[in-house]
Amino acid sequence: MASSTLICETQPWKALKAHVEDIKKTHLRDLMGDSERCKSMMLEFDGLFLDYSRQCGNQDTMAKLLELAEAAHLKEKIGKMYSGEHINNTEDRSVLHVALRAPRDAVMSSDGINVVPEVWKVLDKINEFSEKIRSGSWIGATGKALKDVVAVGIGGSFLGPLFVHTALQTDSEAVACGKGRQLRFLANVDPVDVAKSIAGLNPETTLVVVVSKTFTTAETMLNARTLREWISAALGPQAVAKHMVAVSTNLALVEQFGIDPNNAFAFWDWVGGRYSVCSAVGVLPLSLQYGFPLVEKFLKGASSIDKHFNSAPFEKNIPVLLGLLSVWNVSFLGYPARAILPYCQALEKFAPHIQQACVNSVSMESNGKGVSIDGVPLPFEAGEIDFGEPGTNGQHSFYQLIHQGRVIPCDFIGVVKSQQPVYLKGEVVSNHDELMSNFFAQPDALAYGKTAEQLLGEKVPQHLVPHKTFSGNRPSLSLLLPSLNAYNVGQLLAIYEHRVAVEGFVWGINSFDQWGVELGKSLASQVRKQLNKARTNGEPVEGFNYSTRTLLTKYLEGNSD
Ligand code: F6P
Repeated sequence: MASSTLICETQPWKALKAHVEDIKKTHLRDLMGDSERCKSMMLEFDGLFLDYSRQCGNQDTMAKLLELAEAAHLKEKIGKMYSGEHINNTEDRSVLHVALRAPRDAVMSSDGINVVPEVWKVLDKINEFSEKIRSGSWIGATGKALKDVVAVGIGGSFLGPLFVHTALQTDSEAVACGKGRQLRFLANVDPVDVAKSIAGLNPETTLVVVVSKTFTTAETMLNARTLREWISAALGPQAVAKHMVAVSTNLALVEQFGIDPNNAFAFWDWVGGRYSVCSAVGVLPLSLQYGFPLVEKFLKGASSIDKHFNSAPFEKNIPVLLGLLSVWNVSFLGYPARAILPYCQALEKFAPHIQQACVNSVSMESNGKGVSIDGVPLPFEAGEIDFGEPGTNGQHSFYQLIHQGRVIPCDFIGVVKSQQPVYLKGEVVSNHDELMSNFFAQPDALAYGKTAEQLLGEKVPQHLVPHKTFSGNRPSLSLLLPSLNAYNVGQLLAIYEHRVAVEGFVWGINSFDQWGVELGKSLASQVRKQLNKARTNGEPVEGFNYSTRTLLTKYLEGNSD
């Protein structure tokens, strides 16, 4: 395939289009009866178990998807990513987040320079700094140890670290490491979020970490100034040196802001914001809370998947299979959404990290594109709408839609051993068993459904039969993790990061830029200018359209006292 050929023009794409009709003839209920098929759609790697037998497809589908991968030059594209080529062509950058978790002796180059020693220089600095803070050898302006941390950042500089922190917060090893400490996040510029982030905290014992790749993001910079004022007002301006540190690629702006460059932790332009949790963006706040040795386990889990992704044959490669199945569901079966359903409360921030509230997203910011990597409008839809909620909570909200409304492919994520096993005296089935009973039952409910005949056999009154019928044939996959410790969290993160890359590589788009978020940002800055003018000179709102002018005027009127 020539680089400018769209994937939809290739033979394997056309073969898959034709194959859809065959698959639509067979209900998942029947497909699930074929044990050989089911067996061929299961996979184990490094403690993880993936069962994708409830996808609407068979061995032929998988063979055709692997041919599609070949037509898309997937192997070469993955190779280019790992070898530091500038595959983010619109920003002329390498995409090397895998280097962030590479072992110390690995070699990974961007622009001819091995970046791994640089990565480890920062990791070593984080290790040393976080140890000083945690041991109390670094003290605040009034001589007290800093036990609380507020990480200020938004989008990729927030959601990944929040997901990992939430996942570890109930893990017994992490609990022991984080004893007596607090990690909070401030993302939204909403003053309510500011108030929540510092409620009950004492500036004397708080460290603020400003996390911003560019150090220009309006929300983060305003929040950083607000917290700088909070510290200065309480402890004097000189206290900033002891109470504020930064993570950024723009160390000049960090210094200009008033943070000592020695207290800045670098990362690099080859790390995309939404892929930055394994850089100082996540590693610093998490190490302050849990200590670097625990965070290193998280990096090792991600690294294990990185190796697997780059070396396992595609038919045994978890991120590749997941990515190909997503392409199948979106582009061939026409299902535009995907539900991420962890049966594990500690993963409550996992779906938000993958979906990231439509604003900044591992999946949606990466693959929400309308043109190919060469700028050609796509004649097919790429990307999917991700959303999710831990089970069983989700079962009591949006599952109705999934069972009897729209067809939404689901990712069920379960954990064999609970972080917090509880057993009630006299109960045979523990809370975790109860939770996991649902994890095992839901995929079959979606796949098999319930027919009118079955209902009539159960003597359901005729008038209720249409309401109680489940069409079934709704695809899902099940991923079982052995437990949820730092290592497994790293594995899970890397699987989803690479799955997104696979989808983008196959669709032929650039998954690593995010121009779509710029327009809203620049319009907000025009609004901000108008607000400034109105407040300083009492000038009426000008420009915009009738609707925006009216809304702004109302807003100003309501704030005029
Ligand atoms: O939402 C767009 C975006 O640029 C993301 O890609 C990024 O993670 C986020 O804003 C925050 O950017 P920064 O880390 O530069 O503050």
